[in-house]
Amino acid sequence: MTNSSPPRVVRPWAVILAAGSGRRMAAAGLDRPKQFLEYRGAPLYWHSAWTLSRCARVAGIIFVFQEDCLAEEEARIRQLDGLGAGTPPGLSNSSMPLGLPWKVIAGGVLRQDSVFNALQALPANCEYVLIHDAARPFLSAVLSARLIEVLEQGVAGVIPGRPVSDTIKQARDGLVVATPERRNLYAAQTPQAFRLDVLRAAHAKARAEAWTVTDDASLLERTGHEVRIIPGEAANRKITCPEDLDFLRRPQALACSGYGYDVHRYGSGRPMKLGGVPIPGAPEVIAHSDGDVLIHALMDAILACACLGDIGRLFPDSDPRLENINSAILLDETLRIAAAAGVELVQADCTIIAQIPRIAPHSQAIRRNLSRLLGLDEEHVNVKATTEEGLGFTGAGEGIKAVALVSALRRQRILP
Ligand code: CTP
Ligand code: MG
Repeated sequence: MTNSSPPRVVRPWAVILAAGSGRRMAAAGLDRPKQFLEYRGAPLYWHSAWTLSRCARVAGIIFVFQEDCLAEEEARIRQLDGLGAGTPPGLSNSSMPLGLPWKVIAGGVLRQDSVFNALQALPANCEYVLIHDAARPFLSAVLSARLIEVLEQGVAGVIPGRPVSDTIKQARDGLVVATPERRNLYAAQTPQAFRLDVLRAAHAKARAEAWTVTDDASLLERTGHEVRIIPGEAANRKITCPEDLDFLRRPQALACSGYGYDVHRYGSGRPMKLGGVPIPGAPEVIAHSDGDVLIHALMDAILACACLGDIGRLFPDSDPRLENINSAILLDETLRIAAAAGVELVQADCTIIAQIPRIAPHSQAIRRNLSRLLGLDEEHVNVKATTEEGLGFTGAGEGIKAVALVSALRRQRILP
């Protein structure tokens, strides 16, 4: 027998505060408060809900809105939470089910009034709560899980904080009055996690004493409870002032990949080149361009990363200017087009399929040349070859084929 207490089961409800009026954002000319900005197919507040719902311990969510938009937002949440497979916050308006109970309530004049209302609306069996600002849409599920783990150790409150990098001054009437020591200073983030009984009592006291605060942890501090602080996240910033909108507008990169495939027939035509490398003694290939089957497969794969169709569309073989053209030039043009579409290559994997010639003696030279042409480190270019065991047209020595898989990042502009 050990005398350690059994692990506490902490299943908090999360409160998402979206009842503010966004006065500091007003200069940006938004027609509604910032929490309603459409971001990647959903209002900003929804992104916090989605992330919190990905945290297994979270038992339910309370959304707090201003009274006059309750019905409208409830309908919107119903729609977003519709049936269907989970869709990560992404590119469409399709439903992104939370898989959790939720409800919508009215907030108050001050942030702390909104929290107070939410605390009254929690279900009777709720013992813990995470209070989160809808204005911080980039919290992570990992951060939320860490906060809950700390609650499981029996503390009354825990918050994420980031050490400040600026020296902070206290000033009054244009005069600096104090400089608190920077190494003790942290910028507090949300979610902030609490034992519900403690937070309720602290809020009741704040009402009775008419305290005004800007976060919930400060109420615990003032009522004599310990509040732990754990590392916050740089990305978990608050959207407050017009310049913070740049953070939402910044291009974000999404992983993408493209597949390419090409075939050339052997016959009197062009001397064989693979990946721009001449293959002496190999059969000639029939082609309008120089017939570099591997570069053609790669070009298709690169265009596929940008969903731009195929090389036949860009470089039709009816175009007399492309007669015997060096495929490296076409590849260059393809890379330019892909870059303009926001594609940044990460890796290329190529397979050459031929009975003859033997590729192995050339594969290192091909790899080196491709990495040069693609602007990729050799570590990120793979070249391999196979026969088809004498089967099919390659097996009969009638032609050659190549396939390529290109992985890339594709920048997205989220807001106009
Ligand atoms: N909030 C709330 N109820 C209020 C005031 C604020 O639910 N009465 C919410 C905001 O919607 C926001 C969070 O509390 O998600 C943090 O507040 P803040 O960033 O200050 O937002 P606003 O109060 O809306 O902005 P401002 O202070 O510039 O008016
Ligand atoms: Mg405010």
